Amino acid sequence: MVGRQKIPADAIAEHTRLAEEIRSHNRAYYQEDTPVVSDAEYDALFQRLIALEEQYPALKTSTSPTMTVGATPASGFAKVEHRIPMLSLANAFSDDEVTEFFDRIRRFLGLPLTAEFAVVAEPKIDGLSASLRYENGRFTQGATRGDGSEGEDITRNLTTLKSIPGEIEGAPTVLEVRGEIYMTRSDFLALNTKQAKAAGKIFANPRNAAAGSVRQLDPQITANRPLQFFAYSWGELSSPISDTHWGALAQLRKWKFNVNPLARRCSSASEALQFYRDIQQRRADLPYDIDGVVYKVDRLDWQERLGFVSRAPRWALAHKFPAEQAETLLEKITIQVGRTGALTPVANLLPVSVGGVTVSRATLHNEDEISRKDVREGDRVIIQRAGDVIPQIVSVLLDKRPRGAQPFIFPDHCPVCGSHAIREEGEVVRRCTGGLICPAQVVERLRHFVSRAAFDIEGMGEKSIQAFFDEGILRSPADLFTLEKRNADAPIPLQIQEGWGEVSARKLFAAIEARRTISLERFIYALGIRQIGQATARLLAKHYGSLVALRAAVEAAQDMESDAYRELTAIDQIGPSVATDLVAFFAEPHNREILDDLGQEIHVEDFVSRQTGNSPMAGKTLVFTGTLSLMTRDEAKARAEILGAKVAGSVSKKTDYVVVGADAGSKVKKAAELGVKILTEKEWLELIKSV
Ligand code: IVH
Repeated sequence: MVGRQKIPADAIAEHTRLAEEIRSHNRAYYQEDTPVVSDAEYDALFQRLIALEEQYPALKTSTSPTMTVGATPASGFAKVEHRIPMLSLANAFSDDEVTEFFDRIRRFLGLPLTAEFAVVAEPKIDGLSASLRYENGRFTQGATRGDGSEGEDITRNLTTLKSIPGEIEGAPTVLEVRGEIYMTRSDFLALNTKQAKAAGKIFANPRNAAAGSVRQLDPQITANRPLQFFAYSWGELSSPISDTHWGALAQLRKWKFNVNPLARRCSSASEALQFYRDIQQRRADLPYDIDGVVYKVDRLDWQERLGFVSRAPRWALAHKFPAEQAETLLEKITIQVGRTGALTPVANLLPVSVGGVTVSRATLHNEDEISRKDVREGDRVIIQRAGDVIPQIVSVLLDKRPRGAQPFIFPDHCPVCGSHAIREEGEVVRRCTGGLICPAQVVERLRHFVSRAAFDIEGMGEKSIQAFFDEGILRSPADLFTLEKRNADAPIPLQIQEGWGEVSARKLFAAIEARRTISLERFIYALGIRQIGQATARLLAKHYGSLVALRAAVEAAQDMESDAYRELTAIDQIGPSVATDLVAFFAEPHNREILDDLGQEIHVEDFVSRQTGNSPMAGKTLVFTGTLSLMTRDEAKARAEILGAKVAGSVSKKTDYVVVGADAGSKVKKAAELGVKILTEKEWLELIKSV
C-alpha cells in the first residue's frame, strides 16, 4: 500500500505556476503560431514539471501538461487509439442489393431462406462520427474517427456541445457512445452569413462546417458553433447495455443522448424498404442533411456472430439515396498523372452547385469512357455526385453540342514528362512509361506516402510536397527523415512556400519525427504499390508479420513455381494480378533502394493483432470439412479468422487442426495419415470458448 503522500505547499505552488506557464507557451506555439521562448527554455520548464511530478505523483493529474501535451506536437490534437475500431458501412444503391443483404445474413446464420428478422432502420446523418468515452459515468474523452483505428482527441471541443451529457447516471464503468456530429441546415446558413461578415472561412456544406468546427484548436471557437450530436452506436463497454440494438437506443435516450426520433424497428426486409421510401420523401423537410438510411440487425447476439468483413460489419448496411445531378458546361479536358503513372482525364467544368456542393471538376475515368460517351470540350453535360465520391459525367446533351466541337484526342505521351504513354493489352488505363523520371509520379508517390492512412505526416500537404520537390529537397521518401538534419546543415529556404516559416518548419519536423516508428500495415500501404489498398496491406501484414518476412517472401515469389508464390496467392483476396504487382514492386531496383534507405531511418513494427493476442487459434492453419451443425461454414471460417487462424481448403503437413462435421470424407483420412489433430465441431468450439 502506498500511503497518502504529504505534498509541501511550495511544491504545489511551483507546480501550478509551471503548469500555467507551459500552457501559455503551448497556446502561443500551437494555436497562435508565435512561440515566445526558445525550445531550450521550454524544455527546461517541462523537465522541471516532470521532476516535480516524479517526486509527488499526486500532482500528475489528467489536466497536467505532461499528460496532455506530450503527444500533441504536430497536429495540435493528440492521437487516440480506438480499442474497438470505428468502422465504416457497406453501401447499397438498389432494393436488390438490400434484399441480397438480408439473404446473405440468412445464409451466414443458417436461417431458413424465408425467415424474416428484425432490423433497426435509421436515417444516415451526413456529419462526422465521434466516439465519446465515459468512465464511471463521467465524460473523459472524445475522439474523431480518424482512420478507424486511431482518431484525434477532441475532448475539450466536445465538452462545449450541449447535446453531449457531461455526466450520466447508472452507466457501466466504461461506456463509449458513438454517433454523428452534425449541423442543421439553418444553423449552417447562419454561420456562413456570420463568417462572411467577419471575412472568415465560408463552408461548402453543413458537413464541412461541422468538421471544421470540431477541428478547432481553440475550444472557444467550437463552443460558438451550433453543433449537435445523434447517438447511434457504441464502442467499448464494461458490461452490455442491452441485447438488442433497439433496446440500446432506448437506453441511450434514457441517459439523455439525442437519438434520432425517426429510427424504427422493422420486422422484415419489405418494412425496411418502406421506411427507406418514407424517409426519402421527407428528406427535404428534415432540418439536417442525410444521405441514406442505415439498417442494423436488431439482435446483438446475431451482430456478434455476423462480425465484420474488412472495415465494415456484416450486420449493417447503408442504403444510399440516388446521386444528385446537375447540368453544366464542360470547358476543358485535362490529363492528370497518378502515382502509378495512370493518365486520368479530368473534365474541368463551369462551377455548378450539386446538392449544396460546388463542383468544378469531374472524373472521366479513362480514354474508353471518353469515346463511349463521346465527351467533347464545349459540351453541355449532366454531372452527378454521391456522398464523397468524385463527381462523374453521366451523359452529354448532344442536342446542345456547339457546332465544330471536336472529338477529344487522348495523348500518347505523358503531359508532364513527355515519355511515351502506353496501354497494355487488356488494360483500360494508359500509363506514362517514365517511372521515376516522371516528376508527376514521384510527387504523387510522395503525397501518398505522407497521406493520412499512410505515414500521416501533418503539415506536409500537396503544396509543400510540390515545393520541396521543385527545390530538390525531397525526392524519395527517406529524404523526409533526413530533412531536419539537412536543414541544420543548410537551412531550407523559408520562402519555399507561401506562408511557410520557422514555426511551420518546426512543426513539420516534429510531425516527421513522431512517425519514425510505424505499423507494418501502414508501411505497406504507404509504399503505394498498385492494387495494394489499406485492406490488402493489412492482410499482408497479418499474414507475414514482419517487413523482413514479407520482403523475403515476395522476393522469393518472383518464381511462380515456388512455394512462396503459392503461399502468397493462397492468401484470401490476393489473386495472381495483385501478386504480380507486388512482386514487380519488390523486384524493381529503385524500390529496393527506397526500402533500404528507409530502413536506415525508421522502425517498422511487426504486426500485432489486437484481437488475436492470446487466442489458441492465432497463427494456426485450420481446415473445415463435412457439414457443420452448429453454424454455417461461412460463420465458422469468419470466427476462426477473427481469432487469427488461417482457413485452408486442403489438408497438408502445415495444417494444425481439421474440424470435422457430418459426412466428412477424404480430408479426415488424410489428416489421420499426416498426424494432424482432428477435432469435432463441439471440441473446436470448446477450445475457442474462453476467448
Ligand atoms: S453505424 C459499425 N448509423 O456513416 C457501424 N453510421 O458510411 C458504424 N453514419 O462512419 C456506423 N448515420 O459516420 C451508423 N445512423 C447511423 C449513421 C452512421 C451516419 C455515418 C458514420 C459512419 C458512416 C459510414
